[in-house]
Amino acid sequence: MTTMESLIGLVNRIQRACTVLGDYGGGDNNTFSSLWEALPSVAVVGGQSSGKSSVLESIVGRDFLPRGSGIVTRRPLVLQLHKLESGSQEYAEFLHLPRRKFTDFSLVRQEIQDETDRVTGKTKQISPIPIHLSIYSPNVVNLTLIDLPGLTKVAVEGQPESIVQEIETMVRTYVEKPNCIILAISPANQDIATSDAIKLSREVDPTGERTFGVLTKLDLMDKGTNALDVIEGRSYRLQHPWVGIVNRSQADINRNVDMIVARHKEREYFASSSDYGHLANKMGSEYLAKLLSQHLESVIRARIPSITSLINKSIEELESEMDHLGRPIALDAGAQLYTILELCRAFERIFKEHLDGG
Ligand code: GDP
Ligand code: NA
Ligand code: MG
Repeated sequence: MTTMESLIGLVNRIQRACTVLGDYGGGDNNTFSSLWEALPSVAVVGGQSSGKSSVLESIVGRDFLPRGSGIVTRRPLVLQLHKLESGSQEYAEFLHLPRRKFTDFSLVRQEIQDETDRVTGKTKQISPIPIHLSIYSPNVVNLTLIDLPGLTKVAVEGQPESIVQEIETMVRTYVEKPNCIILAISPANQDIATSDAIKLSREVDPTGERTFGVLTKLDLMDKGTNALDVIEGRSYRLQHPWVGIVNRSQADINRNVDMIVARHKEREYFASSSDYGHLANKMGSEYLAKLLSQHLESVIRARIPSITSLINKSIEELESEMDHLGRPIALDAGAQLYTILELCRAFERIFKEHLDGG
């Protein structure tokens, strides 16, 4: 692993450890929330059924999210990807089920559904309480991704009218954070001028420096039309290039079309397209994942001085907190505290080595 990969990996693990501790501490501990917020994450934003969950799955290269028409994602899902050495066994772990390793990803999907229902009931209600999931795999990049409920203009049957505003408020609390990278998802078969993703991201990030425009459903556009005006930045200009995507259709999902097969089909779609052929190497989910991890790397690189000073401050706070461990404290919380301290020290050490090495 490169120094940068290990630093990003550490950042990821610090975020996870802070989450665990935040949970024990009821989230009132400033050390952990400010550490968490200093570190970048990526949130997926867009209208209902625009393809948010599908894009996340493509980035992960795994099939594990509930998807479909209507409001499927009803709680935020904070998804942490941790890169393992090649050849390692891939597994997933939920924060609320700390000692259970999932190797069957269809059970991960089931657990997300069950855990959503546990809080919201089997209704179409939503809840701002996030589900935390970590995926450990040799095939991922170190990233924190957040899947959010879709923005909507009307409540569906059984939902209170207030749900429209509730969803927007929930999404906003994530995307307004200056360290949040926004994946703004718009479907190509709808007018970009009506895109909820663009509307919201423009409000919270007017310069577009932390917004990535993603255009899904290119395969569903009317024959004889194309999305070049959007993709080439003429309809709505962003600082980062737009990325076009072809996710699996509902029919593909019903037929259990494999993720790898879907990626292959997507690549073929762009390579053989008369409209997008000239952009083929800058389109698709694999390219999007690469673009995101490069961006994340440059963000972390730029933030290293502030992250390091925050980590130094946290080390001090953690050490004094460890000193006070005489008071009754959950065993796990003590262990987590120690873990964060160790991770912070490792970050500091690797960062120093990086500097010394030029
Ligand atoms: P979300 O509500 O924004 O999370 O959207 P989902 O990812 O659940 O997708 C909603 C529906 O649109 C599913 O049936 C997907 O199969 C379908 N879908 C998403 N992206 C594409 C795409 O690029 N092409 C096609 N044909 N269908 C897509
Ligand atoms: Na949906
Ligand atoms: Mg979804």
